[in-house]
Amino acid sequence: MKKFAVLGFGTVGSGVVELFYKNQKRILEKAGEAFELAYILDLRDFPNSPYADKFTKSMDAILSDPDIVVVAECMGGVEPAFTYLKQCLEKGISVATSNKELIAQKGAELLAIAKEHACNCFFEASVGGAIPIIRPLHRCLAANDISAIYGILNGTTNYILNKMLTDGMTFADALDKAQKHGYAEREPSADVDGHDACRKICILSSLVFGQHVYPESVYTKGIREISLEDAAAADSLDGAVKLIAFVKKLDDGRILPAVMPMYVPHENMISRVDGVFNCVEVCGDAIDRAYFCGRGAGKFPTASAVMGDIIEAVKHQKTVFSQSWVDAGTQDFIAGIDALNCGMLIRFENNHDAAALSEFAANYLAKNGHENEAVRATSNACLISASLTNAERTALLDAFANQNMPILHWLPAMEA
Ligand code: HSE
Repeated sequence: MKKFAVLGFGTVGSGVVELFYKNQKRILEKAGEAFELAYILDLRDFPNSPYADKFTKSMDAILSDPDIVVVAECMGGVEPAFTYLKQCLEKGISVATSNKELIAQKGAELLAIAKEHACNCFFEASVGGAIPIIRPLHRCLAANDISAIYGILNGTTNYILNKMLTDGMTFADALDKAQKHGYAEREPSADVDGHDACRKICILSSLVFGQHVYPESVYTKGIREISLEDAAAADSLDGAVKLIAFVKKLDDGRILPAVMPMYVPHENMISRVDGVFNCVEVCGDAIDRAYFCGRGAGKFPTASAVMGDIIEAVKHQKTVFSQSWVDAGTQDFIAGIDALNCGMLIRFENNHDAAALSEFAANYLAKNGHENEAVRATSNACLISASLTNAERTALLDAFANQNMPILHWLPAMEA
């Protein structure tokens, strides 16, 4: 009988094991044949676990079992996960991983090895947790010219931003609450500084545009500077502050991936995706826009995606389904953040006449090549929807400051 192994018995790995036994009958039916869990690799001991007989500390035991057809990697981190998955693929054993750090760093290499050995490197769980987004992007939507992807790809920061607005919490208090709920790590940098979302947009960008995008090449800004006042200002202008990971195709053929807090207008449904939920908007020439929403993290949501990959690997042992992208040897196809054209939400001291703010901005824009652009303002914030270049944004901010309208903070604005 075909067998599979799980590497790592943490939150996701234990979820995969529990989900397999909970829905075993259905899972085997979907796979079209019986298969069993043979090994759980973990350095720790779990003597009282109902799966105690499955545990091993030996990767060699897994690699030398000829019945193993797929290995689920739920360890996290680049090593030893990379070495183990490479060893599996070189033996023709497919892999299913939830590890975004690994795929963002080593995806091109692992995919090439899988192709060479006629097996699959699946990573549906690495972006968006439960949300099916990897397979739709490279299979269902393959006929499209994809112009952009925008996403809320980190549940922890979305929870924090949401709490700031709905419960009037400061960033520090909301982070504390996220940590108490177990969403944020004790060392929350990967989430709050945007690195986790960066890895995920690297994976989506590489998948869609065919060349490996490394995290170091992506402008990444987290949410530490977002205040309660920013969240309230966005709300007063019919939008929300969200940590947006995006990639856009530019007119010059380069792509611009980035992660940053943005004002998102309520016309765009991403603005209303709250709590630990994730959402990915895909813009393509044939589909216009498609939205994919769901739980972006957590034990069973992530296990659901890993288990789906395991079933696919069991069903299609000889067919290479996983998409390849290449390491182009350069990152020159990636534009810097200065190439971003966008609108902006500007926040001021709370003592302005709203009509004067919007009139000043509208007049300034009209004089500088942006006639009839919508500008809206409150007594402490102004929303410019016009798509401005980096130089135009800087000039407008200077113009406000020169008119004795000092700026407290500004955020790039996403299109509706
Ligand atoms: N820390 C991540 C999040 C987990 O909050 O979305 C899923 O990658």
